[in-house]
Amino acid sequence: MSVLRLHNIQKSYQQGATFFEIIKSANLSIKSGEVFSLIGPSGCGKSTVLQIAGLLDAPSSGSVFIEDLECNLQSDIVTTDIRRDKIGFIYQSHHLLVDFTALENVMLPLLISGMNRFDSHDKAEAVLKDLNLGHRLKNLPTELSGGEQQRVAIARALVHNPKLILADEPTGNLDPTNSNVVFDELLSIAKKRGVAVLIVTHNIELAQKTDKIYTINKGLLELYKDEASTNIDEPKPQRRRSNRPNNKA
Ligand SMILES: Nc1ncnc2c1ncn2[C@@H]1O[C@H](COP(=O)(O)OP(=O)(O)OP(=O)(O)O)[C@@H](O)[C@H]1O
Ligand SMILES: [Mg+2]
Repeated sequence: MSVLRLHNIQKSYQQGATFFEIIKSANLSIKSGEVFSLIGPSGCGKSTVLQIAGLLDAPSSGSVFIEDLECNLQSDIVTTDIRRDKIGFIYQSHHLLVDFTALENVMLPLLISGMNRFDSHDKAEAVLKDLNLGHRLKNLPTELSGGEQQRVAIARALVHNPKLILADEPTGNLDPTNSNVVFDELLSIAKKRGVAVLIVTHNIELAQKTDKIYTINKGLLELYKDEASTNIDEPKPQRRRSNRPNNKA
């Protein structure tokens, strides 16, 4: 069963009497544990596809299925529940609450959904430790590096065990070294937890670590054809995470 399926998605915007067809056709299916990337020039419609997949925007036509449920046919209440329970979002800016510690930032979505303080604490701590942030639980966002802040944001997106993670340029604000670390950790934790992931990135080297690379070409969502690679359809081997200097035992 696919976690996310886009079927014949089309999206147009109207400005005055003119229609702009941003997405002419998008078809995609991601299963549990698969990580796909979406690349393409600015304005080609990457965020639009992500917003539609995350039920934050409606397609002009076509269907979005989350775990085989056709979401377009559901009420607003049901789609809000699906978004809250099954989808985690990660953005370029981490949007952490500055007055709360890393641990509290990750606990918050669980507390809001009604989980008690003890369970929220344990789950948040576990996911932060999975992201190698066990030593930063009590720090405020301003006391964390950019890469650490973004890993807290990843922990927050993952803490309620979503089936699907949608990430829009999650490493866009980071330097190359931190981009690599954060991207690798996102891939590794997604594989470990069996989450389906769709990541928008401008960085082809990062995209090449994912199972499939998609792009949007003249409004059509299609597999990226890398001239240097004849095997772009094949799942890519997961790169091993390198040992970081501050990670050594
Ligand atoms: N609400 C809207 N009304 C009209 N046009 C819109 C709206 N939202 C997006 N667009 C247009 O849709 C196109 C695709 O936008 P989108 O944000 O998906 O691009 P993108 O590929 O994510 O670009 P970037 O890499 O710069 O983030 C752009 O031309 C944008 O101006
Ligand atoms: Mg965008």
